[in-house]
Amino acid sequence: MTTKSLFDSVRLGRITLPNRLVMNPMTRSRSDTEGRVGELTVTYFAQRATAGLIISDGIAPSPNGKGYPRIPGLWSDAQVEAWKPVTKAVHDAGGRIFAQIMHTGRVSHPANMVAGSKIVAPSAVQLDGQMWTDESGMQAYPVPEALDDAGVEQAKNEFVHAAKNAIAAGFDGIELHGANGYLIEQFLYPGTNRRSDRWGGSVENRIRFAVEVTRATAAAIGADRVGLRISPYGKANGTSEYPETDETYMALAKALAPLGLAYLHVADHFGATNGGPGAYPKLEALKAKLRDIWGEGPFLIGGSFEKDSAVRAVKEGTTDLVGFGKAFIANPDLVRRFREGLELSAPDATTFFTPGAKGYTDYPSAAQEP
Ligand SMILES: Cc1cc2nc3c(=O)[nH]c(=O)nc-3n(C[C@H](O)[C@H](O)[C@H](O)COP(=O)(O)O)c2cc1C
Repeated sequence: MTTKSLFDSVRLGRITLPNRLVMNPMTRSRSDTEGRVGELTVTYFAQRATAGLIISDGIAPSPNGKGYPRIPGLWSDAQVEAWKPVTKAVHDAGGRIFAQIMHTGRVSHPANMVAGSKIVAPSAVQLDGQMWTDESGMQAYPVPEALDDAGVEQAKNEFVHAAKNAIAAGFDGIELHGANGYLIEQFLYPGTNRRSDRWGGSVENRIRFAVEVTRATAAAIGADRVGLRISPYGKANGTSEYPETDETYMALAKALAPLGLAYLHVADHFGATNGGPGAYPKLEALKAKLRDIWGEGPFLIGGSFEKDSAVRAVKEGTTDLVGFGKAFIANPDLVRRFREGLELSAPDATTFFTPGAKGYTDYPSAAQEP
């Protein structure tokens, strides 16, 4: 086997990435109340087009899936039109971009949602704590409505509709957000899935929603244009370790590996720069097993990587691609900075989710710095 470099090109479904640095999906809350992105988002992503692949912010597939204020959508024609200048600008700048489809499920509040929508989840299990609303500040999460059979079918169809819209909007593919405690993971995780029908209970039943959504979107736009993000052992939006964690994710990977997806993306919440204790041995062991099950299919990992650890991970064959989140917020030209050993700028967390250009499009590239 030849040794790979972080700066080598790699094939990902129908496209070739010039390097293996991926911009991780990050919600930036710069859309309007109708879920439409604007000029600032065009600039933001075009500035970052040298990433091997950009994954967009989490995009709601439907009104029911839009739990946060000012996040974008991909359910209406107007939203599709709004994304077109973004994908064009990224392509014109030589880049590639996938849309992350994020149905928030129970991680939601009525004040953040559009008229006529409802908060749904596999079971009526309320998330502890509060979330931000633009209208009235921090508010408690409500009890979600448990989906009935027709509701599960509708949620699946919403992912498919959004996937088709993503392609119509010019995205190179989609990433299904199966991580961080949102709807797909709410089905995987026994704490939020208390169902005893075919969607809950056994491992086989809990993975069914993820498997069916992946199959259906793959059938609609091509498996090689669909990636899946998961966060086993992750602690986000009320999830945590459970006895069948390994079994659940291994069964999921086994079910999906034969499809020939664009990639499997494993998010890691344990890194020190994300407030975690550092590498978690159980997750490290599971990542290796998932990579094995995934075979030749592209594998993407991310969370608290730095240049050296990313170079090492690709060189040692732990992964094909490495995702960077916050470093891409603060360094639009991250690839060049890594390649040339330039200093990195630090991100300002106070502007991660605030409207406007500040902290979004005003981080300079190295060449522009005084
Ligand atoms: C501001 C911000 C928003 C994020 N939004 C999302 C999101 O919409 N979807 C997602 O899968 N992960 C999201 N994440 C997690 C990142 O994709 C990534 O996993 C995390 O930042 C860890 O990588 P890093 O250490 O390189 O920053 C977000 C992270 C940040 C900092």
